[in-house]
Amino acid sequence: MLNQDPLWHKDAVFYELHVRAFYDGNDDGIGDFAGLIQKLDYLEWLGVDCLWLLPFYPSPLRDDGYDVADFRSIASSYGTTEDFRRLLEEAHRRGMRVIVDLILNHTSDQHAWFQAARTSPVAPTRQYYVWSETDQKYPRARIIFVDTEKSNWTWDSEAQAYFWHRFFSHQPDLNYENPEVRRAMIQVMEYWLDQGLDGFRCDAVPYLFEREDTICENLPETHRYLKEIRASIDQRYKGRVLLAEANQWPSDVRPYFGDGDEFHMAFHFPLMPRLFMGVRSEDRQPIIDMFKHTPEIPPACQWCLFLRNHDELTLEMCTGEERDYMYYAYARDPQMRRNIGIARRLAPLLDNDRRKVELLNSIVFTLPGSPIIYYGDEIGMGDNIHLGDRNGVRTPMHWTADRNAGFSKADPSQLFLPVVADAVYGYQSVNIEAQKHATHSLLNWMRRMIAIRKKHKVFGRGTLEFLNPTNEKILAYLRAYEQQTVLLVHNLAESSQAVELDLGRFKGVVPEELFGESRFPVIGERPYVLTLGPYSYYWIHLPAARSRNSPYSMEWSAI
Ligand code: NOJ
Repeated sequence: MLNQDPLWHKDAVFYELHVRAFYDGNDDGIGDFAGLIQKLDYLEWLGVDCLWLLPFYPSPLRDDGYDVADFRSIASSYGTTEDFRRLLEEAHRRGMRVIVDLILNHTSDQHAWFQAARTSPVAPTRQYYVWSETDQKYPRARIIFVDTEKSNWTWDSEAQAYFWHRFFSHQPDLNYENPEVRRAMIQVMEYWLDQGLDGFRCDAVPYLFEREDTICENLPETHRYLKEIRASIDQRYKGRVLLAEANQWPSDVRPYFGDGDEFHMAFHFPLMPRLFMGVRSEDRQPIIDMFKHTPEIPPACQWCLFLRNHDELTLEMCTGEERDYMYYAYARDPQMRRNIGIARRLAPLLDNDRRKVELLNSIVFTLPGSPIIYYGDEIGMGDNIHLGDRNGVRTPMHWTADRNAGFSKADPSQLFLPVVADAVYGYQSVNIEAQKHATHSLLNWMRRMIAIRKKHKVFGRGTLEFLNPTNEKILAYLRAYEQQTVLLVHNLAESSQAVELDLGRFKGVVPEELFGESRFPVIGERPYVLTLGPYSYYWIHLPAARSRNSPYSMEWSAI
């Protein structure tokens, strides 16, 4: 049964996966819906609440499916609409929701709309795209894919005109000035919602409209249209969610929540690299600063927090100096870099250091927002930096130590991408089956962490207050919701640290550590001292003060 709370998204744990990479149900080397359905029990076991599926529409796959050739069907290698409906039913039966990518900004140049549009200036879909006789319009718009594109305009010899594209030159932007486009895309959305889909991760939303003398991002007309989308959802569908991909500064993302009448959720892009900076420089400041610059959002809205996804670890929201630092710290080998970012998975980024993987996950799972896990990161999967584009982080999921990592029974040469098989991250040892059996594996730890988070609404809904201890290697904060307060303490350093926390207002309280459910010394007058091993962390519940007669008061009265 699905959680009927209209604010379910505020408590949910999300899991991002590519149908193609998850599990192959028909042995052709490509993952599919039939395979994913077989693995829903695993996702339920892990404790996931909502799946985010990467684009599964027919596509020439020159941008891994973000180049859509038909918005209303499913690529045949993944299955049929019937399979998709079955997936929704099976997921819902297990209490899991499903959202998919909605690519509003552009289509593939193979889309029938573009194919028709390019044939003549009076073709019925000509005005679905943005054309120009010159490539000089909108000069203030930046180029996003700087490593592959030279201009946002590409000459189309058939159309005898330039067309506008913010991403690859095979991905023409849709023309949102055209009311037919605006209607058509709302109908696309309704088509999927009518099948029972629970919402969308809306791709590249800042770029829908263009206007001269602007940077063509975050324009008021874009927000107006997005609000229309939301209104049409609210009118006809219940419990659905819209998640914005707006890779922008928090102040520019804030308007995407509107007054609670635009997106329900948005990724917090700039926070992500700062988590990596914080742990590498052993300094909490980059993380805290980012929250200082993060405005309040409407009560029904939520941030989405993540460490990694299917793209490069983007450094767009970093200063030049910060970027240099991140490249130096995390991608000295140029093969690890893509566009403005680093195309690596979580475990290799963190030197396969289990302590750091836990630490960063712990932060993402306890700061305000809903966390997203990228498939495979729950077992510390590795990457393959030698594959082109961002494919190095999109390889098949590791299920077992069998052929093809248990992902497919096809001949290995048939796989859509090779499995990771190196000595450190190879599927022979890094796989779900092995980690399920090992009580203290990363996978079992992740499962436990998810379960603890889900027991306490404070993580999804609570207020945030950073503490300010003198030891700057310690990131400590309080979250509070209704009667509950939790204290989160993280040691960003590779050495053991002690910290004195000012918890005077909790005098008399006996803290309880949430993972082990053990009690800590009672909080007294003096600063509260904690010691933390390298990269370690505490999730501590601060229940209301206990009576002096508590059976524990003798033991801890010394503090
Ligand atoms: C954002 C997606 O996350 C990325 O994978 C894609 O390349 C761009 N949008 C362009 O479609």
